[in-house]
This record gives sequence, C-alpha cells and structure tokens, in this order.
Amino acid sequence: MGKFLNSFSTRHLLVTSLALNVSLLLMVFFKTGADGLDGVSLLKQVVTLAAIGGLLSELHAFHRTQKTTTSASSSTVTIANLGKDRVIDLDHGDPTMYERYWQQVGDKSSILIPGWRSVSYLSDPGNVCWFLEPEFAKQVTRLHKIVRNAETEGRHIVVGTGSTQLVQALLYALSPQDAKEPINVVSAAPYYSCYPDITDCLKSGLYKWAGDARSFNKDGPYIEIVNTPNNPDGTSGQAVVNRSRGTLIYDLAYYWPQYTPIASPADHDIMLFTVSKCTGHAGMRIGWALVKDLEIAKKMIKYIEITTIGVSKDSQLRAAKVLTVVSDSVEHPKKKEESFFDFGYSKMSERWKLLKAAVEQSGLFTLPELSPEFCKFSGKLFGTQPAFAWLKCNGPVEDCEALLRENKILARSGKHFGASRQFVRISMLDREENIGLFIERLSKIRIEKPM
Ligand SMILES: Cc1ncc(COP(=O)(O)O)c(C=O)c1O
Repeated sequence: MGKFLNSFSTRHLLVTSLALNVSLLLMVFFKTGADGLDGVSLLKQVVTLAAIGGLLSELHAFHRTQKTTTSASSSTVTIANLGKDRVIDLDHGDPTMYERYWQQVGDKSSILIPGWRSVSYLSDPGNVCWFLEPEFAKQVTRLHKIVRNAETEGRHIVVGTGSTQLVQALLYALSPQDAKEPINVVSAAPYYSCYPDITDCLKSGLYKWAGDARSFNKDGPYIEIVNTPNNPDGTSGQAVVNRSRGTLIYDLAYYWPQYTPIASPADHDIMLFTVSKCTGHAGMRIGWALVKDLEIAKKMIKYIEITTIGVSKDSQLRAAKVLTVVSDSVEHPKKKEESFFDFGYSKMSERWKLLKAAVEQSGLFTLPELSPEFCKFSGKLFGTQPAFAWLKCNGPVEDCEALLRENKILARSGKHFGASRQFVRISMLDREENIGLFIERLSKIRIEKPM
C-alpha cells in the first residue's frame, strides 16, 4: 500500500508539474498573439513553442506509458526519451491541427444518425446527382456565398468520396471514349504528387499522365489540372499550356481564407473542393465539384455510380453539420467562441512566422516568397500561408529528404512533385506538438560534411 502511494504521488507530482509548465508556457505564448511577434521575441517563441511541444509530447508519452504498463517502475527516462527523440512524420498532409477547434466546439458539431437513416441508396432522386444529400448541397452553397471564394450560380454540385474520387471522375468524364490514343493529362511542376498516381494507376486506355505542363508541347486534346494555391509550393497559378483543345480542372482545395487571401470568387467551369482541407475532416472523405456543363456532370455521376454507387450519406450529413457550424461561426459570432477561419488563420500565421524565423536562423534552407494580397473575406493583407512548407536545402545538400530523415523528420522529397531532390514538402497542418518539435529541430540542423 505504501509502495503504491509512493508511486502514485510521484507520478501525479510529475504530471502536475508538467501540466503547470505547459499552462504557464501556453499563457506566455497565446498572450503574445499572432500579430504581436517581432524579430527578437520570434526566436524566443521558437524555443517556447518547442518547449510546449516537448512538454505536451512528454505528457502524451506519460499517458501512453500509463496505459501500457501496470508496473510502478515506469520511469521518467521513458517519458523523456519518447518526447525528445521520436520521429516526426510530416510526409502526409494530415490536417490534425483542426482537432483542437472541433474539440472546443463540442457537441454543437455532433449529429445523431438513427438506425433507419441511409437505408436507401438514393438521396435526392429528382436531382441529376441522385446521391447528393440536399442538406449538404445547401451548406456548400451557403459557405461559398459567405466566403465569396467560388461562384455557385449555374453550377451542378457533384459530391465525391474525397476530391480524389472527383479527379478520377473528371478524367473519365473529359476523356474522349473513342480516341485512338489516351488523352494527355498535365499539371505545372511542382505538382501535387497524387496527380500522376491517380492518372496512371490503372494504365487506362482513356487518359495518361504527360508530366509538367510547362514542357508539354504535343498537339491534340489535353487535360490540365491547375491547383491554386498550389500543393506543394503555395503559389497562385493559372493554366500554362493555353491551347485551344485543352480542358481545365481547377483544384481549389486550399482556396480558403485561413491559407490564402480571397481576392475574388473563382469562376471556372470545373472547380474542386474538399472538407479535408477546408474544415480538416479528411477522415469523412467528402469533396465536391462545381461543374457548369451538365453533360460533364452527368458523366462524372456515371463514374461514381459505376465505382461506388454513390457517396456515403452518413458522411454527407456529418459534412453538412460541420459546414453549418463553420458558416454560423462567421455569420453569428459568439463572444467567447472563435470563428473557424480566425482559428485557422491565426494557427497558420503563428506557425509560418516561427518557421520563417527558424529558416532564417539556420541559413541552410530557403522557402518560397509569397507576396501579400488583400483578402476581401477577412479585410487583411497577407501572403499565402500554405498548408505545406516547400523547403529547399541550399548549397552542398543534394538530398533534402535524407538530411531531414537523419534528423528524424519525415517529409516528401521534391522528386515526387516533378522537382529536384533539393526540395522537400513538409505538412504544416499537423498537431501543435509535432510542428513545435519540427521547427526546433530544423533550427538546430548543421552540416558537418558535404552530402
Ligand atoms: C491539391 C489537393 N487536391 C486534392 C486532395 C485530396 O483531397 P481529399 O482528401 O478530398 O481526397 C489533396 C489532399 O492532400 C490536395 O492536396
């Protein structure tokens, strides 16, 4: 009993001390605010954020240890090691940064789906997109009208299992069915690394990946995917091929005001969006296309019928709910609650300020320069703060991904994006503790010998 009490109080003292440190540091950090950062305090805050990250991960590690062992001998050594030396995986754009917001929102974003719901395949038999939930369609239109980031008038909404399925549906819909050769699909490098994979995975007879749009010089019809702001480098883009027989797909996954200034509503014939990057609900697997041409929309719907007989109604209902909460947070702000886009904007802004300071301090890396523009949604002047850092290793480093891996940071090499190995893409949407630790590690990287 005495032994138990001893180990009980030691553990609890440790947790209490860590928790106190965390709350003190959080107070210091958040009191400063996103706009209150200056050159001197920035570097201090790199350390502070890293310290917060370290402490939080130590707490997590402690909880993990508690769950997995009943022995009173689990020591502080385990805690320190798990916190400091762990590998940070920022290869995928997993948007876990948003968990915090949705935890704060609580039950307001929950829904209860009774057992009798979603029995039928059909959602809206009168609609050309018969598997589109009307409430989801309503909330998509409402949010675009509030943010003014895309025209919805005169467009058909096609819902997909993520915008990944919609890219496939579009390739199917835009390819001539009776052509002798597959149609060429291009995008300007550095392009989103999944475009080539999506295009070529089935070695389709209808379409094929033809690489960087900038070097595309073939005659005939083609499909160009324009991703703006662009994953991986955050630049704003236009079509680059500009020939008469091309069809453009605008992938606007990141055209939201937490990432980039909203200058005017996008007004293209084919536009793609996803909740994955808008609200952070990547696991819901819901995306939507705004399509002007009815025949194209019908072919996309046909593709989704053939491949998955529609799109999860349960997910659409959840997506409708979270979009409602986002729109309400803008239209009916509550005193104590932060609007969704304010939360996202401040998080991205804090992270980018810290990363830029760390990069400047190291002298080993560079980041793209993204010039400020006026955002009509927020009234702020700012440069795109992308969901990914497109980091270039300078000087003698030829393989940036390998250098980061040596420092226990996993990132995606530039080679997957049609660029050189001197670049890496790093997710900026991860949890606070991982981003803190990543920035701290990056600021400390030194090269001893040429690589
Ligand atoms: C540019 C771009 N388009 C599409 C997607 C896929 O989104 P979803 O999760 O909706 O399939 C991503 C995900 O990272 C992306 O970065």
